[in-house]
Amino acid sequence: MRWLITGGCGFIGVNVVETIRKNDPTSYIRIVDNLSSGSEAMLSRVCEFTKPTGSLSTPAGECHLYIENITRADVAYSICKGIDVVIHLAASTGVPVSVECPRTDLESNVIGTFNYLEGARCGGAKVFIFASTSASSGGYNPPFHEKLFPRPIAPYGASKCAGEAYCHVYHEAYGLNTVALRFSNIYGPHSINKKAQLVTNFITGMMEGRVLQIFGDGTQTRDYCYVGDLMDAIMAAIDKSEQIGGNVIQIATNVETTVKQVSDLIFDALDYYGNISEVNIEYVNERPGDLQRNYSDVSKAKELLGWSNKVPIDEGIEETVLWYLKNYKVS
Ligand SMILES: NC(=O)c1ccc[n+]([C@@H]2O[C@H](COP(=O)([O-])OP(=O)(O)OC[C@H]3O[C@@H](n4cnc5c(N)ncnc54)[C@H](O)[C@@H]3O)[C@@H](O)[C@H]2O)c1
Repeated sequence: MRWLITGGCGFIGVNVVETIRKNDPTSYIRIVDNLSSGSEAMLSRVCEFTKPTGSLSTPAGECHLYIENITRADVAYSICKGIDVVIHLAASTGVPVSVECPRTDLESNVIGTFNYLEGARCGGAKVFIFASTSASSGGYNPPFHEKLFPRPIAPYGASKCAGEAYCHVYHEAYGLNTVALRFSNIYGPHSINKKAQLVTNFITGMMEGRVLQIFGDGTQTRDYCYVGDLMDAIMAAIDKSEQIGGNVIQIATNVETTVKQVSDLIFDALDYYGNISEVNIEYVNERPGDLQRNYSDVSKAKELLGWSNKVPIDEGIEETVLWYLKNYKVS
């Protein structure tokens, strides 16, 4: 199999590369990433790779990194040649940054997605997996599910909705087996670049002895899904893509966990495994626009993919903490 992973140097991308290497060591992997958030150092933890120049080839067992912006259509057309499966992860990922710079968000997330759908169509790829988000649903009370009419409340959610719509079009009009997976809050190993996310921020912050902030009273909830479970969902979507092409599917746990509970689990695991027994948390005012509750119904994922999450939050946090204790150097 010949894989193209856009955003393959980022958190989820590195986990995807690691999963492919474990399942299928002789496959060819091509990565395109502009290193705006991910890094070569993150990729090198899971895979040996080269950065070829000149004409593209797909030698079995190799991994090639191309440092390029997905907004370039000419690059997308050539990079998709000879590829069977595209996993499109590269994106501008922050909600606040999308509010600050809506044009950059649109260029990366709408034009970038369109470029790689076009590249996949013209290059003859069979499968296209699109990383969408539960933020596509927008202004509703949870649980989020796929039948809600999208009402995004930030440019990030709007750009992902546009990506989902283009995925549907490329299935209906061109027969490309697209599947848009709406990820909830994903956490786990290889997330070092995600310092704005609660789990990474709190693990690294407690290891460094930083003062950590909880906005509001810590009772706000999120739907935390372990990255290993997400890998199973992505691989199930690829396996079943011929039958489920054109679909949008929520990937989550249907479980609400409060910010305070996550913080306590992280502290307990760091205390037990890392002898870290002091933590400095301050409670500050809620941020405007923060949702109080957020979780997603996963019935459709069960029905279409035969998937549901296996790793409960306490086990997932323990695995993540163990990974950080081994791999994160406190400066
Ligand atoms: N992590 C989550 O909880 C979560 C939740 C919902 C959706 N998602 C989606 O999953 C995907 C992967 O997220 P992640 O958490 O791994 O983020 P990440 O920032 O770690 O990875 C994104 C990668 O894409 C690259 N990239 C960004 N813009 C690019 C561009 N214009 N051209 C080329 N490369 C570019 C970055 O350098 C990075 O390596 C994203 O599409 C994100 O929107 C993630």
